[in-house]
Amino acid sequence: MNTLHEDEIEIINELYSACQEGNKEKINQLMELLVYDIEEHFSTEEALMREGEFFAYPMHKAEHDMMRQEVRALRENWKKNTNPQEISDFIKERLIPWLMLHIARWDSTTAIHLGD
Ligand SMILES: [Fe+2]
Ligand SMILES: [Fe+2]
Repeated sequence: MNTLHEDEIEIINELYSACQEGNKEKINQLMELLVYDIEEHFSTEEALMREGEFFAYPMHKAEHDMMRQEVRALRENWKKNTNPQEISDFIKERLIPWLMLHIARWDSTTAIHLGD
């Protein structure tokens, strides 16, 4: 599970830098990559939980679904207004704090339960 998180942090870092640079082409690519990567990340964890019949599956998945929606909404907004500031603010104020809390609260207990 930790590899999933490390890869994702790397993409987020690159996207953040692209926003600072105002590189729209790069932001386009990395925004798509982030949406794809988050889907991979969440659905991999959900499959592991289903296999391991983890009791907290519905709660953990509900947290994923909320962030899936937020990231997709962010991408839609980006397409409309191409404002890099909105993405970097989201990363700093929402995505990173959410990810840290989510990993501590959900992913770590899930990993312990599944022995992964
Ligand atoms: Fe995770
Ligand atoms: Fe998770």
